[in-house]
Amino acid sequence: MKKVITYGTYDLFHQGHYNLLKRAKALGDYLIVGVTSDYFDKSRGKFNVHDDLMTRIENVKKTGFADKIVVEEYFGQKIDDIKKYGVQVFTVGSDWEGYFDYLREYCQVIYLERTKGISSTQIRNSHSIRLGIVGNEKILDRFIDEIKYVSGVDIVGAYASEDDVDSQYKSEKFNTLSSYLTYEEMLDSVDAVYVNSPLSMRPALLEKALLCGKHVLTEFPFCTDYEKSKFLVELAQKNHLVLMEGLKTAYCPAFGKLISLVKSGRIGKVLSVEANFTQILGNSLENQIRISGGSIESLGAYPLLAICKLLGSNYKHVDFITHKESGVDTMSRINFVFEGAMASALVAINAKAEGDLVISGTKGYVYVPAPWWKTEYYELRYEDVNKNSKFFYKFEGEGLRYEIAEFVKSIKEKYDQNLLFNYEDILFESKVLSLIHKSRNQFTC
Ligand code: CTP
Repeated sequence: MKKVITYGTYDLFHQGHYNLLKRAKALGDYLIVGVTSDYFDKSRGKFNVHDDLMTRIENVKKTGFADKIVVEEYFGQKIDDIKKYGVQVFTVGSDWEGYFDYLREYCQVIYLERTKGISSTQIRNSHSIRLGIVGNEKILDRFIDEIKYVSGVDIVGAYASEDDVDSQYKSEKFNTLSSYLTYEEMLDSVDAVYVNSPLSMRPALLEKALLCGKHVLTEFPFCTDYEKSKFLVELAQKNHLVLMEGLKTAYCPAFGKLISLVKSGRIGKVLSVEANFTQILGNSLENQIRISGGSIESLGAYPLLAICKLLGSNYKHVDFITHKESGVDTMSRINFVFEGAMASALVAINAKAEGDLVISGTKGYVYVPAPWWKTEYYELRYEDVNKNSKFFYKFEGEGLRYEIAEFVKSIKEKYDQNLLFNYEDILFESKVLSLIHKSRNQFTC
C-alpha cells in the first residue's frame, strides 16, 4: 500500500485545500493529513487562524479524502510521522517548492501546483479591520513591526495631537503613516483605534472613540480614575465595542497556561503571589514619567494582572510603600490581603531587583524566572524534588502580536469583552491605581 502524507492549517476551508487533498489522495492508496495545532501555528508565526482545531479537522474529514488525520504539534514532526507511519510520498502545495527537500532522505517529495487566486490569508483579509493610530510614542515602532504578523487588520493612518510634541523619544515610524489633521477626521475613516498617547490623555481619547462607535486597543493603564474607568467599560459594553488594554503578558500563550495549571490545583490552594518587575531606565526615565508617571502606574499592571488572575479582584486590604525621587515613586511595593491569601508586588523604574513570579500553595509552588512578563518557562516545585517539572513555551518577538491578534479576534467574533484580559481584570487594575493616584494607603520611605 502506497502511503501519502500532507500537512496544512486548513483554516476557512476553501477550494484550494479541496483540490490539494484530492490530488494528494490520487498519488497513492492511503492519505494521512496533518492538521496544525493552534499552539504550533502561533509558534510558526500564524497568529490569527480563524477556525479552531476541531473545526479544521472536521472540514478535512468532510472531503472524504483523508484515511487518517493527525495533529501537527512541533517542528520536526514530519520526519517522525513519515517514519512512524511508513510513508512513501510527502506532498504539499507549490508555494512550498524546495522548502521540504530535506525530507527526500526519508521518502519521495512532490510539490503539487497550488490553486490560483485563493488562500486562507486572502479570505481573512477580505474584511480587514481599518485601524487608526493615536499618538506617536516610541512603543508605536514596535507595534508597527509586530502588526505585520497579524492578518485581518490594516493601519489606515495616524493622528497625534499638538501635545504629542516631537522628541528623540518619539516614534520614528509615525511619519511613515499617512496622517490625519484631526482626531475626528481619523475616527470617521476607521473601525478601531490603537491609543499610545500619554496616560493623562488616554481617558478622553478612549471616550471619544467609543462614543463614535470605534473599538479601542489602548496602552496600559487605560485610566487611573476608577469611576471614569467604570464609565468607559460600561460605554464599551453598551455600544457592543471592544475595549482592550495592550498588556502583552495577558495574551501570550504560556501565561494563560500557567494560570490554568495553578487553577487546576497542582500546587494546592494558593496562599501567596509575589510578582516583581523592575527596571533602571537611565536616560529614558524622565520620558517614562511623562508618559505614565511613577513605578506603580508604569509597571504595576503586570503584577496586578497575575494577582487578579490567581486570587481574584476582591481583596480585603491593599497598601503601598513607595520610595520617591523628586516627588515621583521610583520604587514601590504593593501589599494585598485577600481572604485566605496574600500577595505582594515590587515595581521600580530606577532600581533593580530579581524580576520573578512566585506562586506559593499548600502542596508546592510555581517559579517563573525573570522576565516572567514574557513568560516562556516555568517550574513546578515540591518538597520532594523528584516531583518537580519544567514547562517551556515560545514567546514570539516583542509579544505585541499576541495582543493585536486577540484584538482582531475579539472584534471579529463579536465578543462583549476580551476573554483573556476581561473587564474584571482591568477594573481591578484601575481600582488599585486610583488609590495610588489619590495617595491613599501609602507610606513613603
Ligand atoms: N493550497 C493550495 N492552493 C491554495 C491554497 C493552499 O494548493 N490556493 C495548499 C497548500 O499549498 C498546502 C495546503 O493547501 O499544501 C494547506 O495550506 P494552508 O497553508 O492551510 O492554506 P493557505 O490558504 O495557503 O493558508 P494561508 O493563507 O494561511 O497560508
